Amino acid sequence: MRASCRLAADTLDYIEPFVQPGVNTLKLNDLCHKFILEHGAIPSPLNYHGFPKSICISPNQVICHGIPKRKVVLKSGDIVNLDVTVFLNGFHGDTNRTFFVGEVASHAKKLVDVTYQCMWRGIEQVRPSGRIGDIGAAITLLAHSHNYSVVEDYCGHGIGREFHEDPQVVHFGQAGTGHEMKAGMTFTIEPMINVGKKECKVLKDKWTVETYDNSLSAQFEHTILVTDVGYEVLTLGTRERELNVNPTTSSHLS
Ligand code: MF3
Ligand code: CO
Ligand code: CO
Repeated sequence: MRASCRLAADTLDYIEPFVQPGVNTLKLNDLCHKFILEHGAIPSPLNYHGFPKSICISPNQVICHGIPKRKVVLKSGDIVNLDVTVFLNGFHGDTNRTFFVGEVASHAKKLVDVTYQCMWRGIEQVRPSGRIGDIGAAITLLAHSHNYSVVEDYCGHGIGREFHEDPQVVHFGQAGTGHEMKAGMTFTIEPMINVGKKECKVLKDKWTVETYDNSLSAQFEHTILVTDVGYEVLTLGTRERELNVNPTTSSHLS
């Protein structure tokens, strides 16, 4: 799991400099596809329940599962989520980030910043004997304090030998309720946060999920391991690794 998750994070680090005004999303897909194969892995989304491409690319009002297309050209001011899942040595690693394209308006930057914080508030709840409801409660508390809504129709998930496993990790709910977390479990936390209402619509392509009211939506995703002391984030990017964000065993021993 550590190796798969690290490769998924490395893929996002690799693609970030290519996310620029004028690039089309098929090009970003193709670069990621090559990078993943060159590192001995397979992109998990390709042909997954019929998904036609290797990564999901979701700009602006697209919540998730956007299909990369030559005709979708990114422009300055866009926000865009790239969701990478790789299958390496029998295990899946899943992570996504929302990037800024060129110069982005402050209201859009704020949505992306708060969404990133929402993911971390959720991650900070992870510990053995905790409940999955603790995660969603922490996420909604922060999102609602900024008058944003939390998407309920899509959720995080257990992950390992299969792409999507139990339990469902919903991003709303009540602390102290839901599935119990146990050391050794691996699952994703991947809140989707909307400026407007939480409702979604699926486009005629059967994949692309957009906000019902066409408001902006952002998302971040990490794959998490439940440890004896709390959590280990398996999909940290280079910048996050430099910040030493994972709890260490020394805090447990002291
Ligand atoms: N990577 C997405 C997730 O976080 C799932 C994509 S499914 C696909 O769970 F079929 F659209 F690729
Ligand atoms: Co996921
Ligand atoms: Co994902």
